Amino acid sequence: MKTVTLGNNGPQSSRLIYGCMRIAGSWNVEDYDDQQKKLAYAALGAAVEAGYTHFDHADIYAHTLCETIFGGYLADNPGLREKIMITTKCGIRFGDPKTFDWSYDHIVNSARKSLERLQCGSIDVLLLHRPDYLVEADEVARAFETLKAEGTVKCFGLSNCNVQRVELIRQAVGDSLVCNQLELHPLRVAPWKGPWEDGTLDHLKRRNITPTAWSPLAGGRLAKRSVCDEPDSVRDQVQDTLVKIGKKYDADMATMTMAWLLRHPSGILPIVGSRTPDRITAMAKADDIELSRVDWYEIYTAAYGKNLP
Ligand SMILES: NC(=O)c1ccc[n+]([C@@H]2O[C@H](COP(=O)([O-])OP(=O)(O)OC[C@H]3O[C@@H](n4cnc5c(N)ncnc54)[C@H](OP(=O)(O)O)[C@@H]3O)[C@@H](O)[C@H]2O)c1
Repeated sequence: MKTVTLGNNGPQSSRLIYGCMRIAGSWNVEDYDDQQKKLAYAALGAAVEAGYTHFDHADIYAHTLCETIFGGYLADNPGLREKIMITTKCGIRFGDPKTFDWSYDHIVNSARKSLERLQCGSIDVLLLHRPDYLVEADEVARAFETLKAEGTVKCFGLSNCNVQRVELIRQAVGDSLVCNQLELHPLRVAPWKGPWEDGTLDHLKRRNITPTAWSPLAGGRLAKRSVCDEPDSVRDQVQDTLVKIGKKYDADMATMTMAWLLRHPSGILPIVGSRTPDRITAMAKADDIELSRVDWYEIYTAAYGKNLP
């Protein structure tokens, strides 16, 4: 798979990222057993085999279990660490009540604990997971400096941040932000007024910060017909269009969704979330598809739900 540099001077990432949020099988840690471990290892093996070199984590995934599984996988596969890059996230406190926390202590302590679980020498990119309304940007800058100086984290990024939040943090930390992870998929175009429409993607391009796309299949809702919180007609129309256009490119609906995201000039990198080896392998083929403008817009129009103005 082709690789790209994250941000101005970040690490090399495969164009499709493998997301590890679902590798434990569920967020109920008591359900994790040898059978689930086999499934997790099969998914990770398929991703490595298909050329994904970037693995996405967060401290909270399955209440830290996903990072622990991945750390075990690295220990069981010597030599793999040098061939891949690892992103993880912090900034959500899973307490009662739940809070967002970008304080110095929370960032530094979370990153150190992630590194222990991941057993991987250093974290390539640390993202702040969801905007903390009480953030002090200088504290974030101090935390990044500490983690970089001690070698825990090489680069930094944000997630779910709009233009204003990216600028607030960028002013404090300088050029060290390499990506912003956003919910980007065809069921989030207009009328949702999210990153597709509000200038976020143009701004990231101008700042040379790489957008990465979480839940590229809308958490599976785009792949299914039965459960969906978008108007069914739009979802069904998007699916039918992806299937129809996919026949031209000899690719399935999910692979076409990845190709549609990859075609955007801001350099979106989709994060594949399936745990099914065949799907992980198939979606990697999106790297070889160059969608035409007409085909891209046909999918956009289906998602828009009516003819373009
Ligand atoms: N920054 C954030 O706030 C944030 C939030 C959410 C996620 N993330 C990241 O984004 C990654 C991807 O998110 P996601 O897992 O929600 O991605 P997704 O690709 O939108 O959804 C994956 C789900 O779709 C199902 N699926 C995939 N292809 C299918 C098909 N052809 N037919 C039926 N079902 C299909 C998968 O089932 P199978 O496993 O059975 O194939 C899986 O349950 C996560 O791993 C995480 O790293 C970040």
